[in-house]
Amino acid sequence: MLTEEQRRDLLAASLAARARSHSPYSGYAVGAAILDEQGKIHAGANIENAAYPQGWCAEATALGAMVMAGGKRALAVLVSGPGPEVITPCGGCRQKLREFAGPGLAVLAADPGGIRAEWTLDQLLPHSFGPEHLEK
Ligand code: THU
Repeated sequence: MLTEEQRRDLLAASLAARARSHSPYSGYAVGAAILDEQGKIHAGANIENAAYPQGWCAEATALGAMVMAGGKRALAVLVSGPGPEVITPCGGCRQKLREFAGPGLAVLAADPGGIRAEWTLDQLLPHSFGPEHLEK
């Protein structure tokens, strides 16, 4: 269960990251902020590329920041888009998040006006394949 302070901090970090998005091709700026098991927040934005398929999502940038800072597990992620349509993590990002989180991962969606929706990872990626499948 996230505290109000954690929700507020995640929203602020995600929107600040979104402001740094490099998305000149789609014009669709996205931010992501992840709360790790140590209580630290790691953020990132989508970074597009003139060779279109080489761009990547905000969640990937934030996950990279978490891993490089020593974070091991994601407890919550807040993804922010422009609105008004509620943003939702793409399929590839759901799987990337799964690597560092269990089914209970809180996934929050927001726009500059605030938090708009909330799910668990299990709702977005049911019957998921994860690291446990490769345990011998
Ligand atoms: N995008 C993200 O960063 N995260 C998502 O989960 C959805 C899509 C980005 C990718 C691309 O730069 C832009 O949004 C439009 O698809």
